Amino acid sequence: MTHAPDPDAPEGVDLERPNAARIYDWFLGGTANWAIDRQFGEQAVQTFPMIKTIAKAGREFLGRGVRYMTEQGIDQFLDIGSGVPTVGNVHQIATTVNPNARCVYVDNEPVAVAHSQILLEREGVADRHAVLQGDLRNPSDIWNRALETGALDPKRPIGLIMVGVLYFIGRDEPAAEIVQKYLSLLPSGSYFLSSHLTIDGVETPDGELRERIHEQYKRSSTPFHYRTRAEFGEFFTGLELVDPGIVWVPDWHPEAGDSRNGDRMAGNPSFSGGICGLGRKP
Ligand SMILES: C[S@@+](CC[C@H](N)C(=O)[O-])C[C@H]1O[C@@H](n2cnc3c(N)ncnc32)[C@H](O)[C@@H]1O
Repeated sequence: MTHAPDPDAPEGVDLERPNAARIYDWFLGGTANWAIDRQFGEQAVQTFPMIKTIAKAGREFLGRGVRYMTEQGIDQFLDIGSGVPTVGNVHQIATTVNPNARCVYVDNEPVAVAHSQILLEREGVADRHAVLQGDLRNPSDIWNRALETGALDPKRPIGLIMVGVLYFIGRDEPAAEIVQKYLSLLPSGSYFLSSHLTIDGVETPDGELRERIHEQYKRSSTPFHYRTRAEFGEFFTGLELVDPGIVWVPDWHPEAGDSRNGDRMAGNPSFSGGICGLGRKP
């Protein structure tokens, strides 16, 4: 089906197929989505009713991770796959701990970038906050452009964030090498915060529903891919894992913030289907 162009859509937006950034925005209650995304989201909820809660628990993990890193003294962040801004964006959370914190957002979806730009024009500080459109698969390009913004100092530790994004990199793509390239560019004392979808070790009676969602996303412009716990662990090679290591998303420092949605899965954190971790570069 071909859709009439939307004059309000940023240039380059694919409205022919639903897109993960816009579907995720819909899951979180945002408005940066189109009918095609909402229809897809509604079908996904029908298939797997807990999907919205799972998305919110993932977002809460991001908030806890950023607060934790900021409390360790990190005051500059590179957030790749940052998404459409919603409540609790990285620069907002970091600022609650350190008013001078800096952040560069990167996403490959034009709607996410346009909305981040609008937000930063409203509440950002030009030399401390920036947003770029770019693909995570191009570490050197993203790194160079992130430094060109002037918001990040490459000589001081940086919090690199790839939360809820690495599962969009295909299983046949060199995801671990890509991550390692970023890590090699970071100065000592930097952190890497990440999360990933998995079916490895998920103990729930929902059986093949996670496979059905996986199949459904193949019809979007952004199919996702599960990885095992061991495969996710490879992303942290060379880093010191911060306690409690690689765990289910609701189990990661629940005390570090508001975990309303994660709490709903506390009886069975594997239900989140999300594993996560924070590593520190020695
Ligand atoms: C599920 S959202 C996560 C947003 C945010 N990190 C969070 O945790 O709330 C995933 C985001 O990653 C972006 N994304 C997917 N593949 C990407 C890629 N190859 N390069 C950059 N961004 C990507 C999507 O456009 C989307 O905005």
